[in-house]
Amino acid sequence: MLTVSFIWGLVVAICCFFWLILSIRRRQPGEPPLENGLIPYLGCALQFGANPLEFLRTRENKYGNIFTCKIAGQFVHFVTDPFSFSSVMRHGRHFDWQKFHYATSEKVFGHKSLDAAHGSTDESVHELFMKTMQGDALNPLVSNMMENLQYTMLQVNERDWRSEGLYAFCYRIMFEAGYMTLFGKEFAQDDKNFARKEAQRALILNAIENFKEFDKIFPALVAGLPIHVFKSAYSARENLARDLLHENLRKRNNISGLIARRMLLNETTTASNDMEKAKTHLALLWASQANTLPATFWSLFYLLRCPDAMKAAGEEVHQVLEKASQKVSFDGKYIFLNRHELDEMPVLDSIIKESMRLSSASLNIRVAKENFVLQLDNNGTYKIRKDDIVALYPQMVHLNPEIYEDPNTFKYDRYLTEDGKEKNFFLKGRKLKYYYMPFGSGKTKCPGRQFAVHEIKQLLTLVISYFDMELVEKNVKSPPLDQSRAGLGILQPTYDVDFRYKLKAH
Ligand code: HEM
Repeated sequence: MLTVSFIWGLVVAICCFFWLILSIRRRQPGEPPLENGLIPYLGCALQFGANPLEFLRTRENKYGNIFTCKIAGQFVHFVTDPFSFSSVMRHGRHFDWQKFHYATSEKVFGHKSLDAAHGSTDESVHELFMKTMQGDALNPLVSNMMENLQYTMLQVNERDWRSEGLYAFCYRIMFEAGYMTLFGKEFAQDDKNFARKEAQRALILNAIENFKEFDKIFPALVAGLPIHVFKSAYSARENLARDLLHENLRKRNNISGLIARRMLLNETTTASNDMEKAKTHLALLWASQANTLPATFWSLFYLLRCPDAMKAAGEEVHQVLEKASQKVSFDGKYIFLNRHELDEMPVLDSIIKESMRLSSASLNIRVAKENFVLQLDNNGTYKIRKDDIVALYPQMVHLNPEIYEDPNTFKYDRYLTEDGKEKNFFLKGRKLKYYYMPFGSGKTKCPGRQFAVHEIKQLLTLVISYFDMELVEKNVKSPPLDQSRAGLGILQPTYDVDFRYKLKAH
């Protein structure tokens, strides 16, 4: 008996040994420089995860501006020269840009792949995003958000200073208003039933707590850990999804085109049960909030900390409201700016852009569909193998001192020009196309990007209009970015910063 166990043990040990040996890749002629890392399977994952920017900068110094690293079983080719980003986009037909995104979404949110047999392909999901978040579809999103932000923000009738964490404030206001803008509400705006409104608020406050709990473990889920390991995050995810069941959504008024069309698309698939359909909406809730919340925090934080920015923004808001004949009143009549009026706010645009430049750490990923040769801007050609990943890490561009002078300093007017046109940025004397990429690039670029900028701009416009505000500690240090979320988008602050606000005297 012992001998049989011993032989089995030996066979397993030999298999593991060969599996580990075989998973070490040897660089073939024509391929980028390769680093397998020291740890089997994980490769360089731990070093990369600890500080991606530092990791990539040291590899770029060592290997040049394309190199391959083994990360959690995958071979990732990092392209770091921004002039070569266009070359990567041009090789689009060799990449499957959806594979990684949709597989990750299924894994994290627990929905099923759409049933292609019924005509609901990943491609039609992508088209749905473009049709329901861009162009004319933006108008109702923007006007509903304007109303919902004021509904949420003006609940407190504070004439005295009120203190709160700035991140907690942005989270509360943006989450509630954003949730109602996407998923509608169970009451009409002129509804006089106070209890119905309170019940709605309680539901969303509960959703905020569940969202925080689930979002906390998001990086671990993307890394491949099963959600069942995290009991409270698992039940938070299920609670969030339950609120988004079609039977619950049907009770709500003013649902966005995005969710209404997504519900219709879900109805065409037989492969998913009701909870799995609800989880496709949960994926959209996450996409619409997870980056917007910290981006709003950073924009308002830098605005409050920089008197010049506040002065310029205040003047701009005042002028735009005057031109649109909008008056701030405290008698329940909301101010309104449409999409085009919001587009005429270059100072706020520059503040938001600069805040996102400093806090964004997204990873743009494409999976090779086949073996092919990648030709870069510098005429270098590199062999890429099927199923390998080609990745861009825009933070390397955003914090490059050769592109952005004094890159770690907030300069509110960095993106402003005299004539209101887009500012040009250069590297080694050449004009850059890709210098600002918090929303990704090419076909995978965020479809909600215009809405995101509009909603942050709306929040800034409204707080400037309605409140006197100040940081409790005027020159408070900027809280460090939470690096554990690097790769996922806008990084959160590691701790909150106190501010106080009160309704303006009128
Ligand atoms: C500051 C706010 C936001 C940032 C920084 C941001 C950033 C991103 C990034 C980096 C991606 C992945 C792009 C890629 O892989 O190359 C993405 C995807 C996506 N975003 Fe956003 N986003 C924001 C707000 C929003 C909002 C408000 C919505 C919806 C209302 C939204 C909806 C989506 C969707 C649906 C996708 C997936 C698209 C697809 O897979 O086809 N995002 N976003």
